[in-house]
Amino acid sequence: MDTVVLSLGGSILVRDEDNSQYIQDIAEMLVEASGTTRIFIVTGGGRIARYYIREGRALGAPESYLDEMGIEVTRLNARLLIAALGEHSNHTPPKDYKDAVLAAKHNRIVVMGGVSPGITTDAVSSILAERVRASRVVNATSVDGVYTADPVKEPSAERIPRMTYEGLIALVGAAPRKAGPNIVFDAAGASVLARARIPLYVVDGGDLANLRFALEGKAFEGTSVG
Ligand SMILES: Nc1ncnc2c1ncn2[C@@H]1O[C@H](COP(=O)(O)OP(=O)(O)OP(=O)(O)O)[C@@H](O)[C@H]1O
Ligand SMILES: [Mg+2]
Repeated sequence: MDTVVLSLGGSILVRDEDNSQYIQDIAEMLVEASGTTRIFIVTGGGRIARYYIREGRALGAPESYLDEMGIEVTRLNARLLIAALGEHSNHTPPKDYKDAVLAAKHNRIVVMGGVSPGITTDAVSSILAERVRASRVVNATSVDGVYTADPVKEPSAERIPRMTYEGLIALVGAAPRKAGPNIVFDAAGASVLARARIPLYVVDGGDLANLRFALEGKAFEGTSVG
């Protein structure tokens, strides 16, 4: 059976409105897709995590401590999705890769958050994908692909349908980041996928039909990195 890792951005998992409806809908789609595919989901932190990171930073906490607070929020976000998945997934987010692999022995869908400071949930998704020999990583986020520049700040930016890992790393920048960055997929994750030769698909997480195409390895709208 095909294995995929879904990096589910906190930007779409923690929305302003209709949040529980969205989580219910994505859970139903994931259960259907899990009929033919083993799915690992790594949830991001979103604006709740960034609230703690911002406040903690203002109070002078070290970046690694801010990361730890962010990780706790990613695990809370994982629990929201777990609540919607019910008997179809694990019950407690695994705290490391080994426990995620163990959880998959009993569950077709495994949901987890972050793992350790300095490693974003994009990178966790990539390391997990390498560990479980996933066929692909799907990054579901608040934009419908990778653009030539940040489309929120640069309206003339254009979506890139296909690119190499090196192209993505050059675009997002390889420099070390502070806790809670807003980037479409981070360079550390992209370099793990490059060495493992696992393709990355970047899609709009709000379009569940298209997200399912990407998960199942079918033609989709977004950016294909490989
Ligand atoms: N070249 C780019 N292409 C596409 N999006 C970009 C680019 N550069 C920056 N971005 C920004 O990346 C944001 C998506 O990343 P962000 O980290 O905010 O969300 P996420 O990863 O889905 O959620 P979270 O990090 O909270 O888990 C978009 O809102 C967009 O503004
Ligand atoms: Mg992010």
